[in-house]
Formats: sequence, structure tokens, C-alpha cells
Amino acid sequence: MLKKTFLLLTTLSLFTQGALATPVKRSAQDIDKEVTHLLSKMTIEEKVGQMTQITLAVILDKGSRETGDGLTISKEKLKKAIHTYKVGSILNSTATALSVKQWNRLIKEIQDEALQTPNNIPVIYGVDAIHGVTYTKGSTLFPHNIGLAATRNVELVKLTAKATAKELRATGVRWNFDPVLDLGVNPIWSRFSETYGEDTYLTTQMGLGTIQAYEEDGLENTTAVASTMKHFIGYSDPANGKDRTPAYIPDIVLWEKYLPQFKAAVDAGSSSIMINSASVNGIPVHGSKRLLTHLLRDELGFKGLVVTDWEDVIRLHTRHMVAESPREAVRMAVDAGIDMSMVPKDFSFYEHLVDLVKSGDITEQRLDKSVAIILALKYKLGLFDNAYHEPEAAKNFGKAEYKNLALKAARESITLLKNANDILPLPKNAKILLAGPTGHSHAPLNGSWSYSWQGDVEANYPEDEKTILDAFQKAIGKKNLITHSYAGFNNEKNYDVKGLIKKAKKADYIVLALGENAYAESPGALDDLNLAKNQMQLAQAALATGKPVIIVLAEGRPRIIKDIVAASKAIIQAYTPGSQGAQAISDVVFGDYNPDGKLPYSYPQYTGDFATYDRVYLNDIQQLTPGEMSYNGYKPQWPFGHGLSYSKFEYSKIKISKKVLTGNDELTVSALVTNTSQFDAKHAVELYVSDIFASVSPAVKRLKAFKKIKLAAGQSKRVRFTLTKADLSFVNPELKRIVEAGEFKLAIGSEQINFTYQL
Ligand code: BGC
Repeated sequence: MLKKTFLLLTTLSLFTQGALATPVKRSAQDIDKEVTHLLSKMTIEEKVGQMTQITLAVILDKGSRETGDGLTISKEKLKKAIHTYKVGSILNSTATALSVKQWNRLIKEIQDEALQTPNNIPVIYGVDAIHGVTYTKGSTLFPHNIGLAATRNVELVKLTAKATAKELRATGVRWNFDPVLDLGVNPIWSRFSETYGEDTYLTTQMGLGTIQAYEEDGLENTTAVASTMKHFIGYSDPANGKDRTPAYIPDIVLWEKYLPQFKAAVDAGSSSIMINSASVNGIPVHGSKRLLTHLLRDELGFKGLVVTDWEDVIRLHTRHMVAESPREAVRMAVDAGIDMSMVPKDFSFYEHLVDLVKSGDITEQRLDKSVAIILALKYKLGLFDNAYHEPEAAKNFGKAEYKNLALKAARESITLLKNANDILPLPKNAKILLAGPTGHSHAPLNGSWSYSWQGDVEANYPEDEKTILDAFQKAIGKKNLITHSYAGFNNEKNYDVKGLIKKAKKADYIVLALGENAYAESPGALDDLNLAKNQMQLAQAALATGKPVIIVLAEGRPRIIKDIVAASKAIIQAYTPGSQGAQAISDVVFGDYNPDGKLPYSYPQYTGDFATYDRVYLNDIQQLTPGEMSYNGYKPQWPFGHGLSYSKFEYSKIKISKKVLTGNDELTVSALVTNTSQFDAKHAVELYVSDIFASVSPAVKRLKAFKKIKLAAGQSKRVRFTLTKADLSFVNPELKRIVEAGEFKLAIGSEQINFTYQL
């Protein structure tokens, strides 16, 4: 009976050559059978080809790279990739965004070729749809993860991810290299905005929501894409702050803070994982059998696809200097446990791996393991049934509801850092001077992965997308807005101090839009986290006018602004809020939205002090003068979790269900939260746990739960959380997660209560 089903499915696949309209849900058993059968027919070369991923540029006509919709695939290069090198996967885009139609055409051309190979195996195409569909014209761009984490609203984050999945699938691409599960603990690192911030629990919840949204409908369906948790593991805290450079993270910390989010994502069934390009404790992760096989496969039980990052196999030879030759680099990475190499600019991986297998240095059985995983993912995604773009999926592109979602997410992300004497919201009939380099540009609001890799090409942004200036003009009318923000972050008129001083004379308030231009990955490297000098000068000049200054920050990472904090009346962190960010900022500034974002990181005050909120007590010790100790080591500009509202909240009446928690029992803790203001609000309530004494120095506190609630003016709500033993656990020196008996403190807002745990 099984055999019959298998034959039927195979015949159907061949017959239709990938044109089934209705998605086919295959059982795991069927997929296994199909894969085993296919593997039995494949040559070594075909298997190695499946493990090879190249970038789109490799198959494009010469000169077509910059041409966007005029982009053309070279038939000859495509044939070489697909037939000579039997390539199983392609990634990436060109320098400009393509239309959905163009993507559809591209995918069709590639699949037409792939389906003519002896075993008719479709190509799996992957891209980085990092905060919306990066490389497609007309897609909706949402806030980056750092802003999404500030919303503390997993349900909302799931909706944004679902919209991304739908828009991506509409292009014909079914594999997304997202979400980033790296911890944002090093604010100078140029990929900080791609993280959910410094906390493991927050990262886990946001990451899980995203993965669920991508995959929960079933990969065969037109509303789903395969997710990629990345970058496994320890990528985000390079010792010198530069991208793709060594991190030194003790195992006990790696296991405690960097591993749980990956473990949770593995358990949730994320389809693939991408590896950290750099090294941890001297060992390049791409060459680490300990991390890729013993930890990821054996301990975490990951069954999905392990893809390398860009060029990272050859770099074991060229950068890390751990492999004496390119061939040895390939052997090392395959032996360590990778399934697919993002080669991506040539066929060297293919050539070396074929040679390694033929000469017996790598077994064919080893290839089979990886190829089985790759083929299974292709089956799950329905590529064997219809490798082309799906008309059903195309209907889901560009819906108006995504824009509303982007606005909602941007509004909920925006974090009010300071609001002296409740100066915000500003009256709409006042005269406002808008100045600063992020006031009339799109790139700083969208950041990396926005219609191009770097996201810094203003011309790529949709014509109807608003800048802060556009949104302000709409909110208060042209006559109330004096402008000193000009298109283009680097436009020197943005830094004209004299002009600003002159225009300030007629203004009641100055809104200064500062921050960063867009950048992605290594090109965003910084040597100095201080906000750029020309912006600081602008701010000093604005403050010197004596007019009230409101600072709006559009920045992927927290730039140090200590010297202008005290004199500024209000400060708003907008992160990189995406396509509706300008509207959201305007809504907050003029009171059309009551802000509720909370910092997902400790905003540093000093360049030499990046302590995270969950530090241990010893981190706080400072010897100010010989013999005199103090506990003031954690002094961020604003702590993790900080975020003001136009409302005021009071916490009271904390209660726990029992004083002593035993074994695997649960404990409920709740507190009453009251909105004492006249404004309706949303508010994120957080629960922190502190282990008072433990055999490994305990963190001062750790976030263990959060809930976003709505509170009308004057309304009170009791907010409840449930804790289990797992929430009290920590990693011991043997790298085992354990729980010790003893006293714990719980904190919800200003309320605190202790309980005891008994084994
Ligand atoms: C990045 C990855 C990304 C890949 C493909 C690399 O440079 O590190 O995060 O998925 O490129 O674009």
C-alpha cells in the first residue's frame, strides 16, 4: 500500500513537472520513502550538487547586476550551474529590489532548468527577508528585531512575521534566512539591530513567535516559508566589536545565555540553522564538530538543515587559518556537520567535495545524511509538486493590512526615554523646527536589508513612504513646521549649525532627528560608539538656543549621547522603525499615540561600560578610592526595560499562590497594575526573578515573563504569571541546567515578594 502511494506521488511529480495547484501535505513517512528512493538513484556528483549553494550573481548575464527589472539570467551560466555542477540551491538578489513578477520569472527560469536534470530535483531558493521582504519592490518593511523586541508583544510580532512569510512566498522564494537569535549584548556590533536585544528570555519568545508564524501553516502551504535560526552560536559578542571577529565566551555563559533560544527553536521545529561565521574561544564554528554535531545534533536533537554562512567554508583556510588548503577546509566543515555550503561565488566546494568522497576522505554515507535532509525540506516545501511561484501566493502580496501592521508595530516599538515635565506630547498648533540628518530620509528609518543589502539607497524607497518631515507636515500643517532637515543623511545642509540657530528663533520647540544612516553587517563597523561629532555639534547648538529640544533617535544601535541628555527636554528612541516609522514617530510626538515601548537593552552611558541588566553582583562593585567600595557598577543611560508613557502606572498588592514551591509544582504570582492617568494606554508588565544565593554567582535579576495589557484611564488589572522550576534554573560548571533549593525574589514593577524553592 505504501509502495503504491509512493509510486503515485512520484509519477504525479514527474508528470506535472512541478505544477500542482493544490498543496500536497505529505506524511513524514512518505517523505522518507521518497527521499530514500531518490538517494538510491543519485550519483556522488548529484549529491554534492545538492549540498552546494551559489549566489544569483553567478548565473546572471554580464552587466545585468545593476539593472533591476531588466535583470537577465545567462542561459549558459545557468546550464553550467545546474547541469555541470548540479547545484541544489541559490540565494540572494542583485543590488536593487526586483518586482514580484521579476522574481517569479527568475524562479521559473531556474526551475525550468532544474527540472530537466535526471532526477528532476527542484532548486531551493533562499533570501534574507529580515524585517519584511528585503529585496522586493512594494514589499512592507517592518521595524527591525530590536524594535520588535521593544514592543514586548509577541502576538504582534507573529503577525508581522506572517505577513513577511506571505509576501516572500508570493515572490516564489520559500526559504527565509531569519530569525536572528543572536544576543544583542555588544552595542557597537554592526548587526545589533537584527537582534532582539540583550535578554535570553525575550529573544527566545520573540524568536519562537517568528518561527511559528513562518512555519505553522505547514510548509507546503502558500502562507508559509522555512525559517532559519541564526547564527549558531556566539556570533554577537566579538571581543573587538567588529563583525565576524573572534568572541571569547566561557562555555558556562554560552550555555546559559546563548543556547536556550536555539534549543527552544529546535524544539519548535525550525527547519534550518545558519552557522556563526566567526570563532568562539579560538575555534571557528564552521569547523567545530563539538558545536555542530555533538551539541546541535546529539544534544539538542536538531534534525533540520545546517547551512553555512557566506563563504565560510573556504574561510577556514583563508581567514581562520585552521585548514591548510581549500580542500581541507571542505573536509573539515563537512566533518564538523554542515549540510549545505553557501559557497557562494564559485564551484570550489563542489569540486573538492566530489574529490574527497572519491578518494575516500569523506564517505558517501556522510553525504547521504545531508542530502536526505535537503531533499526532505524540498519535499516539505512542496517544491517537488510545484517548484514555480504559486498564483495563490501572489494574491497575498502588498495587502493594505500589512501597512497597518507595520504602523502598529512601529508605534508599539517606539520608546520614550525622557519626558521632562511632561513636555510631550507637543501641541499641534505650536511652531516646530524639525532639524537633523534623519528627519527627511528613508534609510535611517529602515536600516539594513531594505530593498538592498545595506539599505542606504534613498532612491530605492517607495514614493509614498513618508519621512519624519512628511509625517510632521501632515500632522501639524505646513505653516507650523519650520524645516531644517534635508533629503539624504549625508547632505551637508543637515549639519548647517548657523541655519539651525537662525530658524530656531521663530520656533517654539526644536525636534532634532538624529541617529545613524543605514548599514548592514561588516560595513557598519564603528571604532567609537559616541554619536557622530557633527550631530553632537548640531545638538549642542540647538540646546544653546534655549528653546526646548526634543531628540528623536533613529538608530540601529544605541549611540552614546550622555552630553546632551540632561539639557534635552525629551528623548525618543525609534530604533529602525521601518516603512511606517515616520508616521509612528509623529503620532507619538503629537499625542496621537501613547508610547509603550520598553528598551530591549541597557542603553549605555559610557563607551567603556556595556554591562547588561542581568549581570552578577560582582559586576557592580567599584572601588572609587582605595579602601572604599560601592555597588554602582550598573550605570546605563537607561536600564533594560525602561520606557515611559504619557500615562502613569502604579503597582500594588503583589500575591503569590504559595510561600514554598516544591518539586515540579507551579507558582502563580500576580500584582495589581493601575493606570492613574487620564489617558488610555498599553503597558508591558514584566516579571523578574532573582536567585538570592546559588552555587554559581546568580544574576542580579532575570526577566522570566512579560505581558502587554491595555489599561484605560483609571483602570486597574491584576496581572498573573505562572512560574515553574525551569524558571529558577541555571547552568552549572558541568554545563548542566540545574535548580537549587533556596530563597528567590520576584519583582513586578515596584512590587517584590520572596518565596522558597524546595527540591
Ligand atoms: C550574513 C547572513 C545572511 C547571508 C546571506 C551573510 O553575509 O551573515 O546573515 O543570511 O549573508 O545573505
